[in-house]
Amino acid sequence: MDPNASGLVQRLAEAEQCHLLRFWNELSPAEQADLTQDLQGMDFQEMNGFFKNAMQTSSNKHEKLDNHIEPLPREVLGSVTRDRESLKDWELTGLRCISQSKVAVLLLAGGQGTRLGVSYPKGMYDVGLPSHKTLFQIQGERILKLQQLAEQRHKIKCCIPWYIMTSGRTMESTKDFFSKNNYFGLDKNNIIFFQQGMLPAMDYTGKIILENKGKVSMAPDGNGGLYRALGNQGIMDDMERRGVGFIQVYCVDNILVKVADPAFVGFCVQKGADCGAKVVEKTNPTEAVGVVCKVDGRYQVVEYSEITLATAEKRSADGRLMFNAANLAIHFFTFSFLRDVVQKYEPQLQHHVAQKKIPYVDSEGQLIKPDKPNGIKMEKFVFDIFQFAKTFVVYEVLREDEFSPLKNADSQDGKDTPTTARHALMSLHHRWVLNAGGHFIDENGRRVPAIPSLKDGTDLPIKCEISPLVSYGGEGLEELVKGREFHPTLIIDEHGVHEQVKNGV
Ligand code: UD1
Repeated sequence: MDPNASGLVQRLAEAEQCHLLRFWNELSPAEQADLTQDLQGMDFQEMNGFFKNAMQTSSNKHEKLDNHIEPLPREVLGSVTRDRESLKDWELTGLRCISQSKVAVLLLAGGQGTRLGVSYPKGMYDVGLPSHKTLFQIQGERILKLQQLAEQRHKIKCCIPWYIMTSGRTMESTKDFFSKNNYFGLDKNNIIFFQQGMLPAMDYTGKIILENKGKVSMAPDGNGGLYRALGNQGIMDDMERRGVGFIQVYCVDNILVKVADPAFVGFCVQKGADCGAKVVEKTNPTEAVGVVCKVDGRYQVVEYSEITLATAEKRSADGRLMFNAANLAIHFFTFSFLRDVVQKYEPQLQHHVAQKKIPYVDSEGQLIKPDKPNGIKMEKFVFDIFQFAKTFVVYEVLREDEFSPLKNADSQDGKDTPTTARHALMSLHHRWVLNAGGHFIDENGRRVPAIPSLKDGTDLPIKCEISPLVSYGGEGLEELVKGREFHPTLIIDEHGVHEQVKNGV
């Protein structure tokens, strides 16, 4: 294996990245072959260009934002609370599109789950529901149910293709998991896996970092890596073949996500939008969510890592946060908009810079685990294409119905943990039962008040879980629960209605 012969050494020299072969003579032939293969696949000039642009943009960002950011204009907003009278109509439109097999969902599942601290894909996480369903299973069953609802209404067979973006680190385990779980009852031909790209980590001077003597430190290129991957893996062609017209993109970690939400799709379609975003009201200035807004007259999300505290804390006359449209990372695109993005606009998207503690080998060959950030990872963001939309709309929903992301491991008073996700889902299902006319009784046979008392120091939700195979959004429960009293834990699934005494929440 001679890196000179292949021109690799020269390419590295031209890009000032020769240090990557610093330990060449200490590597075994197999390690040399692996390193050569990794490096052959990299365009160093392109990496250097990404680095230069990303650093430049990031250093100008904060100043620019504070002076140029504006809240969303009222006319782009639709709301499940303010526009109640239109909701049913939007939902019917969405359901009709689904019945025509025009709606696909696209799951972003290439993240590394660093904050949650698991070594497997986040979608495989079991948050401890009575059923022990994973996030992937919950989402898969929602898709199945929605197909059935659309079929029942329109009397035609339909499918919602499920595109799943993984990364080099998550592809094999994700595919295995789906196969072992029999694709959660879905037709496996309608589940399409594809892989996003990776980029090397760089130090602050633009040198690519080695994580060991024979290996470059690599990370996925951000969820905006989607657009490049859609193009270079033939996914747009697949969508076109299937006649997909509308795509709902979403993140893996929100346990309440309404996959292929007919009301959101219907709202966007009726408004003639080519691009839409779902939001909830942000009430805490330091919550780790991006805000949908305008910057220099263009729609975009300003990410929590890039907004200044002063801007995040600004309030309107009514006392609400001025930038309060919290991005749920649930987006709507028409097929033609997405195709334009993939074919025309993708190269214009800038990488964002995340400063990280990146383990590396120093020039002496010592492995160093830094305790403060020593370099950057570069990521594109999925929402950076909003600026190219001709008609952009925003759909506002209720947090307690639709947003409870799993980001962190459990800890006392933790936010966005397995416990908070589990509680959010059970509390939603509790409300579904009450709305359908059911009641809960405690161990003494007394009715549990609809709003739990905080007097006893617990704010634990009633233990209740309804399978998505039974109800997608609270519908169809009356015949099962109306006028009945239940002891928690209540489980409603495809086998019937069961009560399970005891069990921890
Ligand atoms: C994301 C949003 C943020 C929003 C929040 C809501 C982005 C860039 N940020 O933030 O605006 O308020 O969710 O919960 O969308 N992923 C990939 N490939 C990658 C990196 C991530 O597919 O290279 C996927 C993850 O698997 C996950 C999603 O993107 O499904 C979001 O990633 P995460 O890093 O959790 O985003 P947040 O920082 O929480």
